[in-house]
Amino acid sequence: MCGIVGYIGEKQAQPILLSCLEKLEYRGYDSCGVAVAADGIKVFKDATRVKALGKSLPKFGGTSGIGHTRWATHGAPSQVNAHPHLDCSGKIAVVHNGVVRNYQKLKEQLISEGHNFVSDTDTEVIPHLIEKHYSGNLEEATEIALNEIEGSYAIIVLAAAGNELVIARKDSPLVVALGDRENFIASDVPAILDYTDRVIYLEDGDIGVVSQNGVRIKRNGIEARCEEHKVLWSMEDAQKSGYEHFMIKEIHEQPGVIRNTLGEFTRDSEGSVDLLEMKERALESMLLVSCGTSYYASLIGKFIFEELLNISARAEIASEFNYHNHILPGTTAIAITQSGETADTLKAMKKLKETGCRVIAITNVVGSSVSRIANQTIYTRAGPEISVAATKSFMAQLMVLYWLAMSYSKAETRKLASLLMEMRQLPSKVQQVLDDEAKIIDYAKSLAKYENAFFIGRGINMAVALEGALKLKEISYLHAEGFAAGEIKHGPFALLGSNTPVIAIASQDNTYEAMLTSIKEIKARGAPVIAVAEEGDEDIVEVADSVISVPKVDTLFSPVVNIVALQLLAYYTARERGCSIDFPRNLAKSVTVE
Ligand code: F6R
Repeated sequence: MCGIVGYIGEKQAQPILLSCLEKLEYRGYDSCGVAVAADGIKVFKDATRVKALGKSLPKFGGTSGIGHTRWATHGAPSQVNAHPHLDCSGKIAVVHNGVVRNYQKLKEQLISEGHNFVSDTDTEVIPHLIEKHYSGNLEEATEIALNEIEGSYAIIVLAAAGNELVIARKDSPLVVALGDRENFIASDVPAILDYTDRVIYLEDGDIGVVSQNGVRIKRNGIEARCEEHKVLWSMEDAQKSGYEHFMIKEIHEQPGVIRNTLGEFTRDSEGSVDLLEMKERALESMLLVSCGTSYYASLIGKFIFEELLNISARAEIASEFNYHNHILPGTTAIAITQSGETADTLKAMKKLKETGCRVIAITNVVGSSVSRIANQTIYTRAGPEISVAATKSFMAQLMVLYWLAMSYSKAETRKLASLLMEMRQLPSKVQQVLDDEAKIIDYAKSLAKYENAFFIGRGINMAVALEGALKLKEISYLHAEGFAAGEIKHGPFALLGSNTPVIAIASQDNTYEAMLTSIKEIKARGAPVIAVAEEGDEDIVEVADSVISVPKVDTLFSPVVNIVALQLLAYYTARERGCSIDFPRNLAKSVTVE
């Protein structure tokens, strides 16, 4: 939550900061600001989006500066609470991502010492603390200040001289990107893809100085030799490439995402799954922890593991898991998080490690915090996902879960080979759903007129119903609830009527007949039903009002085609309602607060 950037080089800092910030808006977008060292420090900030700020911003010269895009935690989104924040002299500016937990105490102390505060933020104590300890060395003063802070931070400090930027991180992400006689700092890689592909991932506790020609990082009190990494994502990956929104581009990228994952994890020639070294370990029980969409991937993962491994698997919402303690000895844990920074998931992972569990992380972001906690990290191959609503990262998580389950599975080789063959066809099956978009657009147009919708599914598709409802509510603001279809008559039926459309996932498996019955019961209460069903299903046409047809696949893979249909339905409904699809209100892509 919150994105920070820094630039120091030969070029004008201001346009570069704005372009980097725009790429980080998925981290928060309620207000933003920049500070440039140009004859003192010039700060410009407002409760607006980066593009709008750029239009109203006076042009400051200056070849070093910092920027911030905010998701408010302390203090409402407003000009005064937007970052950067200054010290009393106006000679030190700070951008911060994280939370200063003891800010109230520090603030009172600083006020009693004569410091003047203007905002409601926790961050503002940082420039004042640095000012208090400054005696000619900005890095030293920052280090002393940070020693007094409890909480999390990624910060960039700019002083009026503008010849260096001081950086530090603890429990919030930060990368340094290396250019030619210029360097960049950012919360995340998409910010810098237009400029360079060489990055250094900072670790917790790192503090350093970035100048035009160099980067110095101190780790555990001594100068560190930091490894330089080449970023595999390209500039095009972080652009809309002719699509109206990132979300629809990312939905359409899913056949490629499946192909990339399969290419990564399977050996084509032998038609077998490339096994992990962890295959050697016996799997007794499995616990999956995660939040939001990643939790729904976990629910599908639980189903796949139980089916293919014949073990007991649990899927837990990380924020709930953190408040109860029952962990079976010998449990293997899987933490799923596309951002790799979700606070609740990180906390759950720490707890699992403390109790002796082995933790495997599945994430889409290289260098993110989960990889520092996990025993083993598996990177999904989704590429950068800019839209706040997760789509292709969910698909990539599912692919890794299928692959993991097949890696561990003791099922006969023939069964695994046949599943793998099915998996290879998934890109074209998903493409088929995408090619049928026009019909879904029509259904979305009528769905957009309602204010409530229910989603129901059974078996492996119960989680797809939950995810379909989440997608719809978060981007279209239409109230949507997902249910296990069998549960709907235990209460939610009271809300059914002609104004409550129900989207029913009717896959051809052992739940199909029960789903037909549910649909009939719903229809009897006057609610319109849109079914998502296998192509050629004639029975469903008899009972549902409308049918979205998806290609036939093995039950285990049915979430893959069904969710693409529901993503499209959510997207086009939100578009019809004129919503801000890529940046829904009040949300952010990485949720770094508990
Ligand atoms: C919804 C969505 C969120 C995230 C949740 C967890 O579209 O994206 O529900 O899934 O905030 O995020 P990660 O996966 O980064 O841990």
